[in-house]
Amino acid sequence: MPRAVIDSEPAFAKVNLALHVRARRDDGFHDLDTLFAFADDGDQLSVLGETGARGEIRLTMRGPFANELSDGPDNLVVRAALLLQERSGTSQGALLVLDKKLPVASGLGGGSTDAAAALRLLNRYWKVGYPIESLTVLARELGSDVPACLLGGTALGSGRGDILNPIHNELKGAPMLLVNPGIAVSTGSVFAAWDGVDRGPLPGDTASIIVKQGRNDLAGPAIAICPLIADSLASLAVHRPIVSRMSGSGATCFALFTSKFTRDAAREAIIGAHPDWWTMACRLL
Ligand code: C5P
Repeated sequence: MPRAVIDSEPAFAKVNLALHVRARRDDGFHDLDTLFAFADDGDQLSVLGETGARGEIRLTMRGPFANELSDGPDNLVVRAALLLQERSGTSQGALLVLDKKLPVASGLGGGSTDAAAALRLLNRYWKVGYPIESLTVLARELGSDVPACLLGGTALGSGRGDILNPIHNELKGAPMLLVNPGIAVSTGSVFAAWDGVDRGPLPGDTASIIVKQGRNDLAGPAIAICPLIADSLASLAVHRPIVSRMSGSGATCFALFTSKFTRDAAREAIIGAHPDWWTMACRLL
């Protein structure tokens, strides 16, 4: 008999509303100025209880992208669970189910948002009681985007993306469309293809100015690796959104619209022209 869900956490899709790459660092990362935000949709992580073996972490996956990820020790959910288990000293384990709706290696921080959901969920389920500051220390060890995913809302990110300043988002609730041409793009390869030119900081300190006047400096290098990204951007731009831009290191592109009606019309047209592309109609959280 299938086991019941005891507790769940949403793992919302991360979107970089702007991403300015500033410098290559000696540690293999890049210094960025970015504006993180989230969609109101994404993956979902649930805990069904213990596995039966003391301290064991077991992950099963379902959903449209479940087959594209390993459920083993390199999965970021498993890594997050093991890290929290080790640091907190708990002997409890967990049987986890990940509903994988977000494409893998797509610029939406899928692995990072799943890892952040694992930290939040297991902190609660195991009654570890860590405050957000302690969870953030673990998040930083798991990846550059994990602290932003743990925090959740709109935030300015600097350093390798892990130094965060939450800001008000005037565009909260805006209808958003995500489009991915179905090609996984490696974050490391896109950063490595960046030309090393610092094109300057974010243009202001309000979300709406940054969204309207910002850039994604990784779009050029990502398009060189995956030319279909240019087609995705063009397919969004013809629908006259408030903005359309690539997220993270791609290939997913987002567009914000003034109405649900124009967003849904854009989605219909894009699906009609590219039935094999992935799309998600959502709102800015
Ligand atoms: O931190 P994370 O594991 O998500 O990063 C994956 C890869 O992306 C890094 O190994 C690095 O090549 C690149 N990266 C970077 N600068 C950043 C974030 C990621 O060069 N700020």
